[in-house]
Amino acid sequence: MRTLLVPLCAAALLATPVLATSAFGQDRPEISVERKDAVIRDAFPNLDEQWAARLVPDETMRVCNEHANEPPDDLFEEIRERAAASIVYPEDGTLMGDWKKGEALAQSGYGMRFTDYPARRETGGNCYACHQLTPQEVSYGTLGPSLLGYGKLRDFSDDAVKAAYEKIFNPHVVYPCSMMPRFGVNAVLTPEQIKDIVALLMNPESPVNQ
Ligand code: HEC
Repeated sequence: MRTLLVPLCAAALLATPVLATSAFGQDRPEISVERKDAVIRDAFPNLDEQWAARLVPDETMRVCNEHANEPPDDLFEEIRERAAASIVYPEDGTLMGDWKKGEALAQSGYGMRFTDYPARRETGGNCYACHQLTPQEVSYGTLGPSLLGYGKLRDFSDDAVKAAYEKIFNPHVVYPCSMMPRFGVNAVLTPEQIKDIVALLMNPESPVNQ
C-alpha cells in the first residue's frame, strides 16, 4: 500500500503546477483579432456611417490589437515616432493655462457619448476615471497611476511641463500601446484645454501639488 501511495503523491505534485497555471483566468486566451473585431462590431448594430467609423482601428490601434499591446521592438519604435510626429503645440508657445479650468476638465466625463450630440457643453478629459489627482477628490479610478504631487515630484521643470503636454496630446509618445486615450491627436481636447490640464499637474499652486 505504502509503495503505491508514494508514486501517486509524486505524480499529483508534479501535475499540480501544470493544472494550476492553465486554470487561471488572467491567462491570455488565444482569440484572433478578426474574432475580437467581429464581437465589437456585433455589439453596436445599426450604426450610421460616422459612428461606424469610430470602430475602425487606425494603424496604431491595429498594431496594438494584433500584438495584444506588446508589439515587437521595431513596431514599438514606429508607434512612438508616429505619436511624436502627431503632436501639435499651442500657437502662443506656452504650455500651461489655468489649473482651475484644468480641474473642471479633469472632473468632466462629458462628450462623445451617444447622448452628447448635439454637444451642449465642452468635452471633458475624465482624468479622474483612471487617476488620482487632488487629495480633495476621493472618488477616482486606478487604471492609471496616481498623479498626486506630479509637478512637485518633477521639480516643476520645463522639461516635465513639455512631457506632460505631449503625454496628454498622445500618450503613445511615451508608452506605445498605452491604454490612456489620445486626447489631442483625436481632437477630444483642444491644445488650450490640454494647457489647462497641464497647469493642474504642473502649477505649484494647484491642489495636485499641495
Ligand atoms: C482610460 C483610462 C485613462 C484616462 C481616462 C486617463 N489616463 Fe492617464 N494614464 C492611464 C494609464 C493606464 C497610464 C499608464 C500608462 C501610460 O503611461 O501610458 C496613464 C499615464 C498617465 C501619465 C503618466 C504618468 C507617469 O508616471 O509619468 C499622465 C501624466 C497621465 N496619465 C495624465 C492623464 C490626464 C491629465 C488625463 C485626463 C486628461 C488622463 N491621464 C486620462 C490611463 C488613463
